[in-house]
Amino acid sequence: MRDVAIIGVYQTKFGELWDTSFRDLITEAGIRAIVDAGIEGQDLEAMFIGNMSAGLFVEQEHIASLIADQVGLNPVPCTRVEAACASGGLALRNGIMAVASGFNDIVVSAGVEKMTDVVDPTPVISTAADQEWEVQQGANFPSLYAMMARRHMHEYGTTREQLAIFSVVNHKNGALNPLAQFPMEITVDQVLNSSMVADPLRLLDCSPVTDGAAAVVLCPAEDAHKYSDTPIYVKGSGQASGTIALHERRDITTIDSTVHAAKRAYKMAGLQPKDIDLAEVHDCFSINGILAIEDLGFVEKGEGGPAVEDGLTERDGQIPINTSGGLKSRGHPLGATGIAQAAEIVWQLRGEAGKRQVEGAEIGMTHNIGGTGGTAAVHIFSN
Ligand SMILES: CC(C)(COP(=O)(O)OP(=O)(O)OC[C@H]1O[C@@H](n2cnc3c(N)ncnc32)[C@H](O)[C@@H]1OP(=O)(O)O)[C@@H](O)C(=O)NCCC(=O)NCCS
Repeated sequence: MRDVAIIGVYQTKFGELWDTSFRDLITEAGIRAIVDAGIEGQDLEAMFIGNMSAGLFVEQEHIASLIADQVGLNPVPCTRVEAACASGGLALRNGIMAVASGFNDIVVSAGVEKMTDVVDPTPVISTAADQEWEVQQGANFPSLYAMMARRHMHEYGTTREQLAIFSVVNHKNGALNPLAQFPMEITVDQVLNSSMVADPLRLLDCSPVTDGAAAVVLCPAEDAHKYSDTPIYVKGSGQASGTIALHERRDITTIDSTVHAAKRAYKMAGLQPKDIDLAEVHDCFSINGILAIEDLGFVEKGEGGPAVEDGLTERDGQIPINTSGGLKSRGHPLGATGIAQAAEIVWQLRGEAGKRQVEGAEIGMTHNIGGTGGTAAVHIFSN
């Protein structure tokens, strides 16, 4: 296997983007990532596009063909990758595998979702849960994560305030990110008094409904300096599957797919949790941020709440989490999220993260999951 590097990245503004179509979003992300990499479109050998549900959100299937055509890159092969909210993370992993195996040299991995054009996005998002066991019984993602939160509170004493602090820290970072959907600071009181969504989760515990796209350009590590003065290297890539339905799990306070994907990524990189300087984790709801820092091994099981309360995950803390603002503040356009996480880590490791820069960051991680953890992808990068 060859080592792989990232030589170009781009993220569009995230938000409710009335004037930008699905095709405009992915075209902007793809072309600007190629420009960032200093290559020409004809240098590309393959494209992998993460997208959860263009069919239901914008009534467009066969998006791989649409995108290759739209960006003027026919006949470059373009493949759609779908794993719910982990679609971007798997598009990244497929691009890495294509380059690592020697099958392709220069590859784009991208992600896109346009969620705000439907009147009610919840039934669309819910298609990523188990239809027979969960959705047809009335469950959706806020209520499934609410059960995980309640159980975590019961088992470990995690408090309502600790969940709120996870959102507050995200927004503190997101306020410094011009690409974020909700770039404003919030307080614990605002979280606790925001409208109830699924007890105990309130509006400000939830990632929003978002339009956006992001892209990265990959090449063999040995060629990276031809294109970039600041290539970022892929050190580890792990993917794992878990049960799609919650009731089949031995324990709903642990996401096993995260644990397994992380183990694989750490093993490939020859690194341990203590070696990671910062991470972008999949906080689709505040509870999942707390589960993530436990399941990725940054803190012991059950210690996520106190760790957040003690400031460990702040930008100047022991393990800065979600310097981009995370899914909560930066936004969560499902298929684009895994790629946007990689873009943030690349900017941080290049030293280009502006006011939210973590000084001296050398090793970063991304953690992207689908549904309540039916799929997980974990990547480790270094400069
Ligand atoms: C939480 C949620 C239900 C709120 O949706 P909603 O009640 O329809 O909210 P609206 O779009 O009517 O917005 C109401 C207000 O809150 C704001 N808002 C909406 N979601 C927000 C969020 N997550 N954070 C902060 N503000 C938010 C809106 O901007 C709007 O503000 P305004 O009145 O000043 O314009 C929705 O964002 C949601 O479903 N989130 C989860 C998405 C999800 O499941 N993703 C996959 C995870 S696995």
